[in-house]
Amino acid sequence: MPLTTEGIKSSLKQVKYPGFSRDIVSFGIVNDIEVVDSKVRVSLLLPKPDDKIQSEITESVRKVLSKTNGISDFDISVNVREQKSAPGQQIPTEAPAQPGIKHFIAVASGKGGVGKSTVAVNIAIEMSKLVDNVGLMDADVYGPSIPIMLGVNSRPQVTPEKKIIPIEKYGLKLISIGFLVNEDDAVIWRGPMVHGAIKQFIEDVLWEGTDFLVIDLPPGTGDAHLSLIQAVPLSGALIVTTPQEVALIDVKRGVQMFRKLNVPIIGIVENMSYLITPGGETVDIFGRGGGRRMAEKFEVPFLGEIPIDPQIRKGGDQGTPITLTHADSSAAKAFREISKEVLSTIQ
Ligand SMILES: Nc1ncnc2c1ncn2[C@@H]1O[C@H](COP(=O)(O)OP(=O)(O)O)[C@@H](O)[C@H]1O
Ligand SMILES: [Mg+2]
Repeated sequence: MPLTTEGIKSSLKQVKYPGFSRDIVSFGIVNDIEVVDSKVRVSLLLPKPDDKIQSEITESVRKVLSKTNGISDFDISVNVREQKSAPGQQIPTEAPAQPGIKHFIAVASGKGGVGKSTVAVNIAIEMSKLVDNVGLMDADVYGPSIPIMLGVNSRPQVTPEKKIIPIEKYGLKLISIGFLVNEDDAVIWRGPMVHGAIKQFIEDVLWEGTDFLVIDLPPGTGDAHLSLIQAVPLSGALIVTTPQEVALIDVKRGVQMFRKLNVPIIGIVENMSYLITPGGETVDIFGRGGGRRMAEKFEVPFLGEIPIDPQIRKGGDQGTPITLTHADSSAAKAFREISKEVLSTIQ
């Protein structure tokens, strides 16, 4: 079989990014592949300078290429991506130090109403059934809804040292931007303010004992997001979408945004994928499969489909998440599978 760039690319999917279960192709590390007759040139682009990671990846790529039939000669070049910042905004070069938190997982969407917060809550709960020390940060300045979804009415206490003590609910440590602002103020938030609040949430909240922090980001992919995302050393991001074409356009923007910031995309979640009628029939209300198609197109993992289930909405309104009240439902099972995938990707 003649050598093709596609063939080489798919062989390179065997190479995992050090410390992750994800491969370097889906992380966007493989920047270019050139094939001329039996000669192959692979150019790698690393998100940040790191000699150890660079040599591990290069060595693994070398191994794969030397085992590939038909290659007479190969060349591997490595470059490091320039650290870009959004124009006109102050962005720290270093994310704030945070003792304790090992993994930051962002839940993002191009627009509101697709179920981003629902996914964040239920993923956090499912993760906490599998691992200890999960926290949840509601950073959606435009519509902080997680306290309601978890049935939290109280506000966090502050220590004499002015550290905020997160609320504990259902075994999760929770902090919400809704605790700090009035609902009416949320609409006037601007990028730098959001950025400051997130930074404060990382630095001034007592997260000790939190290993995994799920972050419900504000919807959108604009400049404010670039700045916000850079305030947190994200381990990876989930992109939530509904199946309609109009929603899928935002997936592309989301993928581009995280790639620009070198944040690994853990995968795409399709919410409101289908409805199961009381008679047991499956109906695709908004169409189905768009999330999977987008994932294939952008070469990121597809993590699962969450059905429309009235219990999800009820649970959200009443502060009783479906993953706790109806753990055997199809929806809860879908959240469980996604959580497993998230954990295996980031650990
Ligand atoms: N799969 C689903 N089935 C039924 N209702 C859902 C589902 N996903 C989300 N909802 C409901 O839709 C509304 C919007 O979801 P939410 O998570 O608040 O979206 P976002 O955070 O993206 O704005 C909420 O009332 C929520 O309970
Ligand atoms: Mg929300």
